[in-house]
Amino acid sequence: MLEIAVILPTLNERENIVPLLEALDAELAGFAWEAIFVDDDSTDGTADALREIGLHNRKIRVIQRIGRRGLASAVIEGACATAAPVVAVMDADLQHDPALIRDMLEHLRSGAADLVVASRFAEGASADGLPSARRERGSRLANRLARMLTGVELSDPMSGFFAMETARLRALAPRLSGIGFKVLLDILSASPERLRVVEVPMHFAARRAGESKLDRAVAFEFLVGLYERHLGRIVPTRFALFGTVGGAGVLVHLSVLTLAYRMLGSGFTAAQALATFAAMSFNFWLNNWLTYRDQRLRSVPAVLRGWAVFCVACSVGALANVALASLLQARGTYWLLAALAGIVVGAVWNYALSNRFVWGR
Ligand code: GDD
Ligand code: MN
Repeated sequence: MLEIAVILPTLNERENIVPLLEALDAELAGFAWEAIFVDDDSTDGTADALREIGLHNRKIRVIQRIGRRGLASAVIEGACATAAPVVAVMDADLQHDPALIRDMLEHLRSGAADLVVASRFAEGASADGLPSARRERGSRLANRLARMLTGVELSDPMSGFFAMETARLRALAPRLSGIGFKVLLDILSASPERLRVVEVPMHFAARRAGESKLDRAVAFEFLVGLYERHLGRIVPTRFALFGTVGGAGVLVHLSVLTLAYRMLGSGFTAAQALATFAAMSFNFWLNNWLTYRDQRLRSVPAVLRGWAVFCVACSVGALANVALASLLQARGTYWLLAALAGIVVGAVWNYALSNRFVWGR
């Protein structure tokens, strides 16, 4: 009877799969196991190479996803595709040592744990394989943030190497976000009852071949996800991003104004107009990259149109802002408060219009 499935998300890991399968074969000798690869249509032929091996080896299965991306969702779908009662999730680049699977299984079978996590930061572990000191700092920071905001008390809630009962993971699946790399963190915080977790220290080795797929976009989505969970209900994530971009736009405005008016000696009105235009353009560009990254305008005509509409929307917002602030101030509201009220109303207005007319579907 099938005992365990190893779930292996892959994105361009062709060079790593043969040594990986050899290592799994050696370490899991004596177990009835299978490997479920979930490949996001790698361009290096990972899926084809796997199918070729699978032709002679019934332990290998491949789910090739077309037009999809994401480590977390790959893991969830892989776990839903096996009949094995237990799953071990690991990276396919040999940074994780398959020898640990045996110990992990032991902890599960003895009933000591609902979830076993291989940790890079536990007593006796090492994270030498992280590609740079910067990445190690980033990883520790992400772990600290995750612990602080979710109350999880693990040394490595961001680990990509863990094992649990498949049915438990499947039951949690509808509550997992499937976004980015943080599948373990999602599992820990989605579980209605507190999971009993055992951590085993691991030596996080260097990647065998190829390169890491954890890029800035993944890190950004991680932060957005944490915000969403905790403050998203108070100030919606997209509006918070929009407002932050607006704040950065004020800095751009002041810089351009200073440059034109104080340093190049142009008239104040012209300098202010130039600064306003620069700030609106900057805001449009940054919102297109961050706030609306999922709906990003890409083609030249779409960008030009969006830019123009954004500037018009912001101009109307600015009018509303000035009108309200003046009215309040004239009626005796303290000037700073009046200005603040104008800014908030202008921002909400810009946001509503942009949502609808610039990035609307
Ligand atoms: N299917 C699929 N889709 N697989 C992916 C994707 C994706 O979008 N992105 C990455 N993978 C696969 C990789 O091919 C690899 O097998 C595994 O997921 C881990 O990805 P890496 O790109 O090697 O991640 P890393 O080594 O930089 O990051 C490590 O640390 C993270 C936390 O700091 C990993 O252990 C991660 O699992 C961990 O979350
Ligand atoms: Mn890796």
